[in-house]
Amino acid sequence: MSVDFTTILAPMAGYTDFAFRSVCRDYGVGLTVTEMVSSKALVMGNVLSRRMLYRQPNDSPAFCQIFGHEPSVMAASVQIDEVAAYEGVDINMGCPVRKIVGSGDGSALLEDPRLASQCISAVKRAIGDKPLSVKFRLGVTDSDGAVDFAKMCADSGANFITVHFRTRKQMYSGTADYALLPQIAKAGIPVFANGDVATREQYLRLLDNGASGVAVGRAALGRPQIFAELTGEHYSIDVLQTIERQANMLLQVFCERVTVNEMKKHIAAYLKGMRGGKSVVTEVMNARTLEQILTPCRQFFDTYPDFRRKQN
Ligand SMILES: Cc1cc2nc3c(=O)[nH]c(=O)nc-3n(C[C@H](O)[C@H](O)[C@H](O)COP(=O)(O)O)c2cc1C
Repeated sequence: MSVDFTTILAPMAGYTDFAFRSVCRDYGVGLTVTEMVSSKALVMGNVLSRRMLYRQPNDSPAFCQIFGHEPSVMAASVQIDEVAAYEGVDINMGCPVRKIVGSGDGSALLEDPRLASQCISAVKRAIGDKPLSVKFRLGVTDSDGAVDFAKMCADSGANFITVHFRTRKQMYSGTADYALLPQIAKAGIPVFANGDVATREQYLRLLDNGASGVAVGRAALGRPQIFAELTGEHYSIDVLQTIERQANMLLQVFCERVTVNEMKKHIAAYLKGMRGGKSVVTEVMNARTLEQILTPCRQFFDTYPDFRRKQN
């Protein structure tokens, strides 16, 4: 697979499930990535982990993101059918969450480039010709090792990298610092820039500075059309229909309770910033059935039809 796309939907646990990824497809996202899945849980046959890898037929190309720190376990996990069904694999080396780091996973690997390299080569050997990407942060407390880490990824067999231009210590605070992008871009493999990307101007600037593309996380929530906005493609979105479509997709796989819980946070994102939206979100948050979350949305968009459709 050649890297012939310039936008990625960044993986977000609890958000980038199969339904939301499918919606982003409608707006031209180049690549989607699953929520992170534990390689160990996959190998141990955890049913929930495998179910997380369900996907819609239109969601392609898509990568499965795994986390772990044991090369042999990670290599075994990518040979499981549900993972092998994806077009490629992404390894999480950026997650700053204490529980993950404490187990030696995610951004803990930033502190052990040798082990990180072994994980990358083991997975690459296991997936053969399929593409492999690595997602990491600039570093733990500073960005001193970022360029070397990028080179290590290239030398170990990664086909491209996605870099969140924050340190682990920063978590999600402050702004992403892209000063090192031109140097990281010379590591020998394409780099996708990640962190706070929300406008076409930023997208173009990052491409000018050596990025092969961008990965967008939070700015895509409630705004799947961002991928068309970034690349300058025409789009037209009916927000209510999108909410209903997303909910219906979830309902095909999950029970009503799970669907409702998943949709609550997405509806909050879709209605964010809309005048009168807050009280609808409050009502939705207290709902228990699909009708109880969709009816207030329908009433809201009947009252404010201007908020319902957007196009460029
Ligand atoms: C709720 C949430 C969940 C996330 N889950 C993951 C994950 O599973 N794997 C991962 O590599 N990054 C994860 N991230 C990080 C994002 O992929 C991305 O790197 C980060 O949000 C910065 O990009 P943004 O400013 O475009 O959101 C998560 C971020 C958020 C906000």
